[in-house]
Amino acid sequence: MRYPEEVIEEIRSKNDIVDVISGYVRLQKKGASHFGLCPFHNEKSPSFSVSGSKQMYYCFGCGAGGNVFTFVMNYENYTFGEAAKMLADRVGVNLPEMEYSEEMKKKENYRALLLEINKEAAKYFFYQLRAPQGQGGMKYLKDRQLSDETIGKFGLGFSNKTSDDLVKYLQSKGYEDKAIQDAGLASFDERYGMHDKFWNRVMYPIQDINHRVIGFGGRVMGQGEPKYLNSPETQIFDKSRNLYGLNFARTARAGNIILCEGYMDVISMHQAGFTQAVASLGTAFTAGQANLLRRYTENVLLAYDSDGAGTKAALRAIGILKEVGLTGKVISLQPYKDPDEFIKNLGKEAFQERIDQAENSFFFEIRVLEREFDLKDPEQKTKFHKEIAKKLCGFSVEVERENYLEAIAEKYHIGFDNLRKLVNTYALQTGDVGPVSRPKSGVSSKVSPEENAKKVQRLLLTWITDEPALYTKISKYVSSKDFTEELYRQVAERLFTGIEQGNYNPAAIINMFEDEQQQSEVASLFNAKLEAINTSQEKEKAFRDILLAVKKNSMEFYSKNLGADIEALTLVVEAKKALQELEKTHISLD
Ligand code: CTP
Ligand code: MN
Repeated sequence: MRYPEEVIEEIRSKNDIVDVISGYVRLQKKGASHFGLCPFHNEKSPSFSVSGSKQMYYCFGCGAGGNVFTFVMNYENYTFGEAAKMLADRVGVNLPEMEYSEEMKKKENYRALLLEINKEAAKYFFYQLRAPQGQGGMKYLKDRQLSDETIGKFGLGFSNKTSDDLVKYLQSKGYEDKAIQDAGLASFDERYGMHDKFWNRVMYPIQDINHRVIGFGGRVMGQGEPKYLNSPETQIFDKSRNLYGLNFARTARAGNIILCEGYMDVISMHQAGFTQAVASLGTAFTAGQANLLRRYTENVLLAYDSDGAGTKAALRAIGILKEVGLTGKVISLQPYKDPDEFIKNLGKEAFQERIDQAENSFFFEIRVLEREFDLKDPEQKTKFHKEIAKKLCGFSVEVERENYLEAIAEKYHIGFDNLRKLVNTYALQTGDVGPVSRPKSGVSSKVSPEENAKKVQRLLLTWITDEPALYTKISKYVSSKDFTEELYRQVAERLFTGIEQGNYNPAAIINMFEDEQQQSEVASLFNAKLEAINTSQEKEKAFRDILLAVKKNSMEFYSKNLGADIEALTLVVEAKKALQELEKTHISLD
């Protein structure tokens, strides 16, 4: 399901990046670039740059970067296809129909049909809620203090007491029984025939991120079992890859997303203005959902029920968030059970305070752990400290581990050195992490040789994208193979081939990569920060140093691979020769 590359390129080249971004961010020209306040992180002075010549943006503050597609995708939270469509419309390019196989078309058509049926059902329930037979439902929602606006926003509805009216309605619209069943709305029974899945419940339509109804949750009014009845998983309803409320939360731009357990919690938070709230769908939080969240935020705040089950679920969710690289924090709802109750009792200002005070998830874990021990008993206390040490071993980055060690030692009045010894013991036992050595001055500032090698490679790529004509002067000495990072090498190869063929186009290179993080990284290669240089002599020296460093690193890199890589020897010999020549050669930048 891809558009041809020429079409993508046509859309990209017709949408000038400075024009497009100016529609979102106030930009000011400064030198060769435009600068503004970065829309992807909070900042007071502009470090977000947009380059007309490279057709790229890059933020020196947070590292976000890319071309016009990436910008629209990130700003609007669009998929690539949605961004392509929007940008194509903007400049009047006709997008060709995507090419599907016959089988895919059939499947897509059937999915479209199931979506249509769910939409019809949502409309039907919506209407029922406002009809005389829906009075009970409306009263229930009003009693739960939902405003008309909120009821409308979430498209809440009502399934009445008749057990086959929805089926009859859908049949009258021409839908076949099998499709109605496949949409999750009815079952067939030898004795009763086709009958509705939901009756006498208030209905919460579940929407995907594009506001399409993919299923329902139905709640009994008052007491009754089960409290919630949910649509089964269907071809359009995958409970592990959707989140209730995400269709609104994705554009909330609150800097975080609040994850909770219940439909009503989401609705209640949105009504109070916390439109960044989402919930899982009657099932435990999954890695698929965590990955979905990662598209929209780095910070997830957990607002799980404050009872035992909620705490357990929160601990599980924290682990899942960590696995996909998200930071989790925990919102305390004490003394209330869930966000809905909290807001009803203490109001939105108090809830905002709880958001601001959300607890670091590691501290939360330790605090929960603490409850299992009687700290007045020395033996139990020791056990507690040992458990802490084991948990600290989970941090594989030394600085991070040290920082947590320090914080926890202080918080629980444990001697720092004692705790560290414990951590070391466990680390050595499990082989999880290396022995901890305490950095003398806090964070070690020394840059590793690998980091340095990457940095000079980035500088060289940036320099060449800034002044592509330079490439012909150095092409004798440098090739894409000198870029020892795989991603850098791919980018260099494409850039250099482009320049050789008279087709210099760095922004197009970004579309070689699908992963958002890779796209940002590619943008960073073209936007490395060059030192402020005044004289042309200094400039020549700087360029030469970078070139030599790249070359030297490549020689060392391939020297290490001698034996493992047949090509390595040739590359080492060539690099050596080039280095010797370079030492003697003057490269003029004019
Ligand atoms: N849930 C479910 N089936 C149940 C009970 C719960 O699918 N029988 C799911 C629902 O998604 C529900 C969530 O688990 O929203 C949390 O359950 P709970 O805390 O019991 O309900 P609340 O969302 O708080 O709903 P309410 O405030 O209406 O009681
Ligand atoms: Mn509740």
